[in-house]
Amino acid sequence: MDHPICDFKDLENPGARGYEVGEQAIIVVRQGDQVRAFINACPHRGIRLEWQPDQFLDYEKQYIQCSTHGALFTLDEGQCIVGPCNGKSLEAVECRVEDGKVWVSHSD
Ligand code: FES
Repeated sequence: MDHPICDFKDLENPGARGYEVGEQAIIVVRQGDQVRAFINACPHRGIRLEWQPDQFLDYEKQYIQCSTHGALFTLDEGQCIVGPCNGKSLEAVECRVEDGKVWVSHSD
């Protein structure tokens, strides 16, 4: 099922925000014109990544950072490149931009 979850223009560039879709916590990440979505669960412990609302990126906004043990994930693939889950990836969620809105596909 498709859900519109935010306006594209509301995302910082680069930037990330968290949303709840049904029972699922999702991160939406923008980098230029590209938008990606991932399940908000670190592959290390399965817990949420952020320590404060919408605080997902590292200081230089180059990676998604897990606040618990500092794992870094690429913005485009969600692949962990440093940290205890090195080599694993965030679970991607299908998403697209249409009519200025970000849509994610997710089964309820
Ligand atoms: S829970 Fe994310 S790095 Fe440990």
